[in-house]
Amino acid sequence: MCSGLLENYMAAMVLSAAGDAMGFCNSKWEFQRDGEKIHDEVAKLGGVSKLNVANWKVSDDTVMHLATAEALSEAGNNPDLTYLYKLIARNYRDCMDDMCGRSPGGTCMEHAGNLDPDNPSSWIANFTKQGGGCGAAMRSMCIGLRFRHPEQLETLIAVSIESGRMTHHHPTGYLGSLAAALFTSYAVNRKPAHEWGRGLMDVLPKAKAYIQKSDSYVEENLKHWSYFEDQWSKYLETRGISDGKSPPSFPEIYGVKERDEFYKSLSYSGWGGSSGHDAPMIAYDAFLGSPDWTELALRGFFHGGDSDSTAVIAACWWGAMYGYKGVNASNYKNIEYRNRLEKVARELYHLSLIAEQ
Ligand code: AR6
Ligand code: MG
Repeated sequence: MCSGLLENYMAAMVLSAAGDAMGFCNSKWEFQRDGEKIHDEVAKLGGVSKLNVANWKVSDDTVMHLATAEALSEAGNNPDLTYLYKLIARNYRDCMDDMCGRSPGGTCMEHAGNLDPDNPSSWIANFTKQGGGCGAAMRSMCIGLRFRHPEQLETLIAVSIESGRMTHHHPTGYLGSLAAALFTSYAVNRKPAHEWGRGLMDVLPKAKAYIQKSDSYVEENLKHWSYFEDQWSKYLETRGISDGKSPPSFPEIYGVKERDEFYKSLSYSGWGGSSGHDAPMIAYDAFLGSPDWTELALRGFFHGGDSDSTAVIAACWWGAMYGYKGVNASNYKNIEYRNRLEKVARELYHLSLIAEQ
């Protein structure tokens, strides 16, 4: 047995991968646009607690999440972020060799191939209007594990943005990375979930100031800044949690069909959860409305949108906040890469005990 907080780190990494594998279901459920069909199949398999991930591969989401986490670990306590970025660039480039049968995203594939760890000018992708996919968000949760202390917020902002725009140089893309990392830090710090959205809105001006200072496509970034912020502001209004104090309110009838419709309404192009703003948003919606792991899975892993991307994020937050509470071992015991996930979780835990950076 391990201590409470260490167990949260382990569960965050392991359950994130398990959620990914379940949402992905060897690519069958990631691309199933009808949530009710997925729910029927889950029921036929005996329900969430009976799902056994032994033969379910993790998708690109987890391969890239491990790439981020292992770079954070290898960088250790080195205060020079340039060294960390070099390692992240190397890992993102190299992990593309492990994408067979994992359905990697188009923007990730296109830009990871251009990364050269020895050439810092390759570490920021060119700005692109198509860079708003969730590929940056799905791999950044561990940044919140590494830099969880409130006094490390500036570092969390910098690392989530820079790792994000190695492939996704668009605010909707890299702010998704910021949201996924920030909420992981909140989860592991036990901040009540209904306060997280307000927290993000308060952090966005700091992210904007970082971009304004950073001297890379500043004008383009500012021009496309408002979409992410507006979408989040609208979502928080809808749930009645803009003030960060009120409890969330959900529609009286909010079943599989209603959720599919709602997730779609949040989306950029009709596929809920596939963009930087709505992958963490749908994960958050599921997290806010779920008293247990089974409900989290039903809402956040199995729907007609980009299931693995919302699952990898929501499941990470569950582990960070609640550990393995209520999770049947078959959901994660034989998950692919379990040893790597647990090893890096331990290393991130130990690094997080030293709040120097
Ligand atoms: N704003 C909002 N959404 C956008 C924008 C934008 N400016 N540009 C593109 N999209 P893709 P990725 C949407 O395919 O991000 C893995 O399988 C676009 O409509 O480049 O590299 C994960 O599980 C598209 O549907 O992927 C994810 O499914 C979506 O972004 C995926 O790959 C995804 O963009 C993430 O990787
Ligand atoms: Mg995937």
